[in-house]
Amino acid sequence: MSTATRPRRPATPALREIQAPVRERLGRVSEEIGRMITANLPLMEQVKGHLLQMQGKLFRPTLVLLSSAVEEREAPRAVPLAAVVELVHVATLVHDDAVDHSALRRGMPTINAVFSHQVSVIMGDWLYSRALAELVEGGELEAMRSLVDASTQMSVGEMRQLMSVDTLGFSEDDYEALIRSKTAALIAAACEIGALTGAPRFRRDLALYGDRLGMAFQIADDLLDYTAESSDTGKPSGLDLREHKVTLPLIHALRGMSPAARQRVERLFAESAPSDEDIAEVVGIVTEYGGIDYARRRGERFADEAEAALGALPESPARAALSDAIRYVLDRRS
Ligand code: IPE
Ligand code: IPE
Ligand code: MG
Ligand code: MG
Repeated sequence: MSTATRPRRPATPALREIQAPVRERLGRVSEEIGRMITANLPLMEQVKGHLLQMQGKLFRPTLVLLSSAVEEREAPRAVPLAAVVELVHVATLVHDDAVDHSALRRGMPTINAVFSHQVSVIMGDWLYSRALAELVEGGELEAMRSLVDASTQMSVGEMRQLMSVDTLGFSEDDYEALIRSKTAALIAAACEIGALTGAPRFRRDLALYGDRLGMAFQIADDLLDYTAESSDTGKPSGLDLREHKVTLPLIHALRGMSPAARQRVERLFAESAPSDEDIAEVVGIVTEYGGIDYARRRGERFADEAEAALGALPESPARAALSDAIRYVLDRRS
């Protein structure tokens, strides 16, 4: 590439590069998940089969394994704990897709779409229980404390999310409290639990890193809802506006909007089933009033704080990958 066209920012690391230091252990996480969710009821087996086909990015297990490896010590419990964290994540996705009436996840039909809302509620609870049972069997009280706290916060977060619907007065502080509990709590727990297994003296640093990374992750996710194609993300685009959810790009844009533009947004929020054209128009307004740029800048700020939290960690391939994960989170397209 010539100097003239070279981007100023460092290139976005690919997920597989971030996962490289823990590739072999990550491969065992999916096997562990299969073992943990053994069911002896045919319908549960069917749901399990569908869930195992839905491949996610395994971002949270990656963070558990990388955090456990920052002092390059053996940590035999890191793989099962990474599986437990992913199970909790999948449980919340199963519930979330039912709550959000979403039909697509990881490029596949959701449990609520293939089976039913009832099945989603029951299976989500069951997945949580399986995850906790694994921690009980391992006698891992500290990891349990971290994960139970994150799960509690996630329920609060999903409730906050309900309160954000149809609320054009939803503030940036409200939004930060929402994404911290909905998303950052579990990402922070993933890093903390990893630290507990292999680098306990960095428990606080890694939990802080995970919190800031999680905030940037959800801001990026909410941006993707405005900017990405469904074929890239494997989930529907524009769903937040369709469901009347107020996220950071809109919160910021509303601050400077002309009365006419605001009226246009209000009209969409009064529409129970907005058309694609309605959504495209409001996406245009939000962009015009700087909402996308502002959310990007907020994401960058959290990213800087995540980087700072890694400051005390010794050099290692895992630390370098945790640092790369920050850039990945901001620039990801899926
Ligand atoms: C989706 O998380 C839920 C959010 C917090 C936005 P991911 O984007 O990590 O989803 P998967 O696990 O790769 O499907
Ligand atoms: C994802 O929330 C689920 C949790 C973080 C609990 P969202 O509803 O915002 O994310 P997607 O778009 O469905 O993945
Ligand atoms: Mg959702
Ligand atoms: Mg949701």
